[in-house]
Amino acid sequence: MKFRFLKPLCFIVFLSLNTKLMSQQDHTEKIEALLKKMTLEEKVGQMNQYNGFYDVTGPAPKNGNAALKYEHLKKGWVGSMLNVRGVEEVQKLQQLVVEESRLGIPMIFGFDVIHGLKTQSPIPLAEAASWDMEAIEESAAVAANEASAVGLNWTFAPMVDISRDARWGRVMEGGGEDPFLGAKIGAARVRGFQGKDLSLNTTIAATAKHFAAYGFAEAGKEYNTVDIGTNTLYNIVFPPFKAAVEANVQSVMNGFNILNGVPVTADAVLQRDFLKGKWGFQGFVISDWSSIAEIAPHGFAKNLKHAGEIAAKAGSDMDMESKAYVTHLAASVREGKVEERLLDDAVRRILKVKFELGLFDDPYRYCNEKREKERLFHKDHMEAVLEMAKKSIVLLKNDSGLLPLKKDQKGILVIGDLADDKNSPLGSWRLASDTNSAVSVLEGMDSYTKDYSFVQGPKYFDDDASFLQHVKINTDDTSGMEEAVAAAKNASVVVLVAGEHGFMSGEARSRTNINLPGLQHQLIKAIHKVNKNIVLVLMNGRPLALPWEAENIPTILETWQLGSQSGNAIAQTLFGDNNPSGKLPMTFPRSVGQVPIYYNHYRTGRATREPNVFWSHYADEKNSPQFPFGHGLSYTQFKYSDLSISKTAQKEISVSVSVTNKGEMEGQEVVQLYLSDPVASIVRPVKELKAFKKIRLEAGASMTVRFLLTQKELGFYTTDYEWTVEPGTFEVMVGGSSAEGLSGSFELE
Ligand code: BGC
Repeated sequence: MKFRFLKPLCFIVFLSLNTKLMSQQDHTEKIEALLKKMTLEEKVGQMNQYNGFYDVTGPAPKNGNAALKYEHLKKGWVGSMLNVRGVEEVQKLQQLVVEESRLGIPMIFGFDVIHGLKTQSPIPLAEAASWDMEAIEESAAVAANEASAVGLNWTFAPMVDISRDARWGRVMEGGGEDPFLGAKIGAARVRGFQGKDLSLNTTIAATAKHFAAYGFAEAGKEYNTVDIGTNTLYNIVFPPFKAAVEANVQSVMNGFNILNGVPVTADAVLQRDFLKGKWGFQGFVISDWSSIAEIAPHGFAKNLKHAGEIAAKAGSDMDMESKAYVTHLAASVREGKVEERLLDDAVRRILKVKFELGLFDDPYRYCNEKREKERLFHKDHMEAVLEMAKKSIVLLKNDSGLLPLKKDQKGILVIGDLADDKNSPLGSWRLASDTNSAVSVLEGMDSYTKDYSFVQGPKYFDDDASFLQHVKINTDDTSGMEEAVAAAKNASVVVLVAGEHGFMSGEARSRTNINLPGLQHQLIKAIHKVNKNIVLVLMNGRPLALPWEAENIPTILETWQLGSQSGNAIAQTLFGDNNPSGKLPMTFPRSVGQVPIYYNHYRTGRATREPNVFWSHYADEKNSPQFPFGHGLSYTQFKYSDLSISKTAQKEISVSVSVTNKGEMEGQEVVQLYLSDPVASIVRPVKELKAFKKIRLEAGASMTVRFLLTQKELGFYTTDYEWTVEPGTFEVMVGGSSAEGLSGSFELE
């Protein structure tokens, strides 16, 4: 590898290349020295991020022709690029900036490494279902290892947006509906990406996004308005962001939404008062793709220039692809509309991250062609994502014990277009991966047993679906249906694979109908008429509403989109070499009309059933969900007993419960503790997850699981953002889901 520092003599003069010895203080001194040398345009340049020249992850770039971008790169007017990947490409652009711009400040290269680079781990919602923080951290570390090998040093992940609306396509990208679980997952992913030493060439900077409340888009419609109160903002939306900041996340991305009348990209209260103020965030804020420009169409700025001024004042440090800063911000400062000290603050933050990544030490530290060749689709990565995939599977139903299948079982029939699909299991947001690179269900089965047959049935989706286009769904071509039904008549068990295409969830993939798309429901019903022994294997990027299937199909296995090793994980689970242990991180509704539906809803004045109609309910549907948050079965059964609650000398609450594996197989259980504060100065949710432990038990074994509830678990944020713990009675429930468990109570003085 060539380290070419020909031109920037001045760069070398005031920046020591030996930053290994540099302390935090040294960074500060270097940054201040550098800042003094920078012109206004160069400062603005650090705050400018351009999209690369091939992947597009937002509206088509406007007036950003390549020639102009190259011109700006050479001038040092670009602090970062996104969607550039591959050692050759990254090195070429980095070299241009380092060698040709006046100060040679290296760029930082960002990319949406959402669930892997080439090797794909399960989609984040699936990983969340594992409730296994070590595994999630490891999965992010694997993604960082691979991403850093192609020259990248910054990911736009984790998405820590809480969402309760399965219509919203981006639920696939997050940790589900619960702030406590979401905070743990967010922090684990930050630790995984960033590792213990950010300057290693195997770790990358993480981004907590989208600050804030993007997951509450009205009606689940992408890019829609958000209008929520402070109770929900402070207690539901904020916790995962705060946890990411505490885990030392290097950047935070704002969003496209407005929040109570202000575009979040323009919101100084969010970005300056909370994030950089109260929470002491030291990294920088990156805008979302053109979210600065979009302040104008929101009706909050007159034009692009005005939008840039508002965003800069509000604390949006870097402009992703809207070109507001690079085009106008220097002029706005000269005209006295934006104070230069605000730019200095933004630039300091950006430079700090670059220093911590070691880019001043060696701007090409992530550009190693040998590593690039070695790490992509590395066998260690494949093993890691297989383990993660196995942990992410949720057994929703197993009424007649059809699963696990016996290894020598005869007459297994696999049906369904998705069974043979090598693309959909990769899920959405897998930009850099290879199309059709997942192990399909059929391939997974094949490596187990050849003793099964397969009938595709009707085609579910069109084959040309892409990241940039909507998926076409087959709603009328039933060819294949008859053959599937005929084959099912003679099968001992039918493994029916159904769900969504991998590109039906993700950004800009909101749906008004969250049933099984196309002819799948029809297919399942037709098969059920001739054979009731159906194992329904679901592949989907969001909770689905499948009331008929939930009622009539005896066994349902939720496999989400499990990534590169999907088929192997599914086959191992079907045949009992993996005992499912996942739990739902998001409620499954009975129908789309119940959405948003979530377990930790607030109390209402009319929650109890009345003899007449005047209580909170639907005329045509139950209030309860199809499958509650935290639900997930195992091939074994766990029994809870001996709940005990006591106070410690420190006035903390100690809770213990005994869990016994009553079945004949070793298994894992997520023991969940929910707390309820029935009377408080602001209305509290009916229950809230406050602790959990994932345990493993041999058949017949028991274990006492202990939890400690401290001030952190017992309180909440008031509408003035004060943390308060209020005396009174608290109710505790401990069990294997949010819907049932052992209960008790305690008094807090
Ligand atoms: C998304 C971000 C993403 C960015 C860059 C936007 O459209 O909202 O989450 O990081 O594009 O690809």
